[in-house]
Amino acid sequence: MCIPASTIDLSTQANIDQVKTTHLHLNWNVDFEAQVLNGNVVLDLVTLVDNVNKIVLDTSYLDIKSVSLGEEKLKYQLADRYVSLGSALTIEVPTVEKAGTKFQLTIDYATTEKCTAVQFLTPEQTLGGKHPYLFSQSEPIHGRAMIPCQDSPSVKVTYSASVKSTLPVVMSALQTGIDDESYGVKTYHFSQKITIPSYLIAIAVGNLVGREIGPRSTVWCEPEMIEQAAWEFADTESFVATGEDLLTPYEWGRYDLLVLPPSFPYGGMENPCLTFVTPTLLAGDRSAVNVIAHEISHSWMGNLVTTNAWKHYWLNEGWTVFIERKILGRLQGEATRQFEALSGLKSLQESVDLFGADSLKTVLNPDLRGGADPDDFFSKVPYEKGFNFLYHIEKVVGGPSIFEPYMKAYVQRFASTSISTEDWKDFLFEYMEKTHGQSMVDKLNTIDFDTWINKPGMPPVDPNFDTTLADACYDLAKRWDEARDQDLSSFSKDDIVNFSAGQKIVFLERLTDCEPLPHNLITKMDEVYEFTINHNADLRLRWQQICLMASYEPIYPEVVKFITEQGRMKFVRPLYRLLHQAKNGAQLAVDTYLQHKSFYHPIAAQLIEKDIGLKTHTKDIFFFVCD
Ligand code: BES
Ligand code: ZN
Repeated sequence: MCIPASTIDLSTQANIDQVKTTHLHLNWNVDFEAQVLNGNVVLDLVTLVDNVNKIVLDTSYLDIKSVSLGEEKLKYQLADRYVSLGSALTIEVPTVEKAGTKFQLTIDYATTEKCTAVQFLTPEQTLGGKHPYLFSQSEPIHGRAMIPCQDSPSVKVTYSASVKSTLPVVMSALQTGIDDESYGVKTYHFSQKITIPSYLIAIAVGNLVGREIGPRSTVWCEPEMIEQAAWEFADTESFVATGEDLLTPYEWGRYDLLVLPPSFPYGGMENPCLTFVTPTLLAGDRSAVNVIAHEISHSWMGNLVTTNAWKHYWLNEGWTVFIERKILGRLQGEATRQFEALSGLKSLQESVDLFGADSLKTVLNPDLRGGADPDDFFSKVPYEKGFNFLYHIEKVVGGPSIFEPYMKAYVQRFASTSISTEDWKDFLFEYMEKTHGQSMVDKLNTIDFDTWINKPGMPPVDPNFDTTLADACYDLAKRWDEARDQDLSSFSKDDIVNFSAGQKIVFLERLTDCEPLPHNLITKMDEVYEFTINHNADLRLRWQQICLMASYEPIYPEVVKFITEQGRMKFVRPLYRLLHQAKNGAQLAVDTYLQHKSFYHPIAAQLIEKDIGLKTHTKDIFFFVCD
């Protein structure tokens, strides 16, 4: 069985080779009582071939009510679900003879409680406790659980929206007006004039207030945390400006931030004009700004130049990490960039260890045939293997003076398009030959592209990142590792008094590579460094990991607290996995999850269930082969 109709993108069932959406308009009512979005979407379509007589769209758990072409109601069928790709909606249209013909379809529909793209929160699940909340998360293939559409990153559209709500609405677009209706309802209008893929259409509704933090930036959140958020993200403008300096002028008009409730499953999501972030970034020390630098970098890498299929996802994330670190390097120095890269390499090693060095999930261009769920492939591989690939190429071609002008040219060449790894590679060679001649092509040819792109495991080249800032962390970790069965009185809080938050984390990361620590060491470490009561979420993750690896039971209540007060997958997934493996932890992990299931975002819930054995993962080897 092979449902995907396109050879470019195997994660859509839409007939994108025959017809393309150019614009979509959303008319939505936010119904907090029924916990649904209902209304319609108006799709502007253009045929790409002659004699088109059906339009196939992606949907997932949507309640489709009617489809019309002007006044005429059309026949349609909603197919059974095909694995993770959802239910294809096939619409019969009167035959459109000529390629290039434009027409408009209106689909009346509503979301349902099974739609993974939208999470409705009760007032109790918010900070203020008085108003409900709604937010969406569509990347990678959840857009179809909010809008019947061609849910493929290879299709780029402009969009507009009119949303009726009793609470303020924000979207990944510029707001163009607010109309007062009756009974406290307002209609919020939006317009996104730059073409974007469906996974970047986003909405949030709640008791939101905004505070200006820069000439083109407002931070939005519930009023209870606005002060803290405005302080934490005060450096936003300097990141956007550095991005412009490295690449091209910022085209999106506004760069706003929305701090979501704690169940938001990611650190950040690069929704255009309005990055969504987790409240776990509010560490009170501006230590999480790399996430902001990262999401800003997506304004070019991912949002302007977009992967055309999830197989080439590294083009979004690897490039973004590369630019994120360029920005941090410029603002905080090369030593910081190297430190971040080193820490990234460690996280890549963890992903490779988790999947296995020969797992197909560690390939930069993974094989997604058979309706594989791209969420199951989420890992550090596209991020850090992708970063290392670009870092290596930069070195081979002669450093930033050659590579940085190429980055600009790459964005200029592919802005507003969707591309594959082959397109990227072709342009790399074309650019280098044109600007630096055959000798540069010879240099590029020394790179083993095939291994980088198609082979599993760690990168084929050791990057030799500079360890200046990491050495002190490594030395201290070594001292602890070697102190087993010895006198511990030489350790004191002074050991880490000059460490940044990042250095404390790297110290702990290093210890996760050692044999589990004896409990007396853990107790002593906590006594001198007070890690258990530290509020930095990244540090809490690492500390709790170390304790769980040693089945140190006094930490279990702290772990339960941390994994139930926030739902960011980076934190909850590894902790659930480790708690499940720890001595006397398996039942606690399952019970904790089942008790708090409704708190988690549906995407996170699905993956946690797989992590603790309540469901199975997509197999590494697929049984359905498409061609
Ligand atoms: N685009 C991602 C988030 C994402 C990835 C959503 C895959 C859905 C599927 C975002 O830009 C991201 O990478 N966030 C990271 C930030 C980090 C790498 C600085 C995160 O959430 O941890
Ligand atoms: Zn990203």
